[in-house]
Amino acid sequence: MKSILVLGGAGYIGSHTVYELIDNGKDVVVVDNLQTGHKEAIHPKARFYQGDIRDRKFMDSVFEKEDIGGVIHFAACSQVGESMQDPLKYYNNNLYGTEVVLESMVAHGIDKIVFSSTAATYGEPENIPIVETDATVPTNCYGETKLSMEKMMKWTGVAHPLRYVALRYFNACGCHPNGLLGEGHDPETHLIPIILQVANGTRPSISIFGNDYDTKDGTCVRDYIHVCDLATAHILALEYLMEGKESNVFNLGNGVGFTVSEVIECTRKVTGHPIPAVIAPRRAGDPSTLIASSQKAKEVLHWNPKYDSLETIIETAWNWHKQHINGYNS
Ligand code: UFG
Repeated sequence: MKSILVLGGAGYIGSHTVYELIDNGKDVVVVDNLQTGHKEAIHPKARFYQGDIRDRKFMDSVFEKEDIGGVIHFAACSQVGESMQDPLKYYNNNLYGTEVVLESMVAHGIDKIVFSSTAATYGEPENIPIVETDATVPTNCYGETKLSMEKMMKWTGVAHPLRYVALRYFNACGCHPNGLLGEGHDPETHLIPIILQVANGTRPSISIFGNDYDTKDGTCVRDYIHVCDLATAHILALEYLMEGKESNVFNLGNGVGFTVSEVIECTRKVTGHPIPAVIAPRRAGDPSTLIASSQKAKEVLHWNPKYDSLETIIETAWNWHKQHINGYNS
């Protein structure tokens, strides 16, 4: 059996996908530089190579030692705010890193890659729900680099025998029900982990970034999708490519929007904590509403997300955060 190479397999979505792959009987190789990933999150059955995707010799050595059948690529910087402060870091890690990965894949005759893209490729949406054919006009450098990575794969596939699936995630959240894997960013910028840090006593309150948006309660609306459902989609996307099908792009979301205030209220119910909230100014670059149409992923990949209740999603995240007060360092 050929192995699956997971780049960034020690990160949040990467580590969940590695568990899903191994639970499905696949043989998995993980590459991660551990700059933002966590060694503790790597499945004990995965073969781990610590190194940087921008290091061509290192990437070549992995492809030479292992018999790789396909690549799943999560190894990228992913913070919107940071990308606006340090855009060249994003160009270097995300674009140059992907260039090296593709060069090494082409040199070793590996022709399938599934890649984590983002709703940030759309920018301010023209329609709700968003479909894959809508305009892609990113409003931040993170989204711009992810869109450029998609295009790099497209043009590489024109010149070489390479096919790709780009999965545009909406708001990834929740944790593996096994309690071993969680969401541990440093610094944390995402809504649900920040609210749970208030509930576990490591933060005094949550700031709501703007309550004057044109939404039902004035706070931003997002489409929250469980990380295990995202993990499943990667496996389906890889199987799709293994069936010889053409390169493609899919949105991944639940198709339901929740406001920031609704997420806070739901977390109060799940945790029993009062979670003090204060209104703060809008955060630059935040679109008011992002909701996915995932019809295409359901029809073409036969993807069927299991976690469709926000309460259950938050319960899985709380299960991890209450036992990991300081994240993976707990
Ligand atoms: N928010 C707050 N307070 C906080 C943190 C977040 O009110 O302390 C709000 C944000 O303003 C936003 C919502 O909660 O309205 C969700 O924010 P997140 O930072 O959790 O997620 P984003 O929607 O900003 O980001 C997500 C993905 C990115 C992707 C982006 C697309 O995490 O990878 O969607 O816009 F780029």
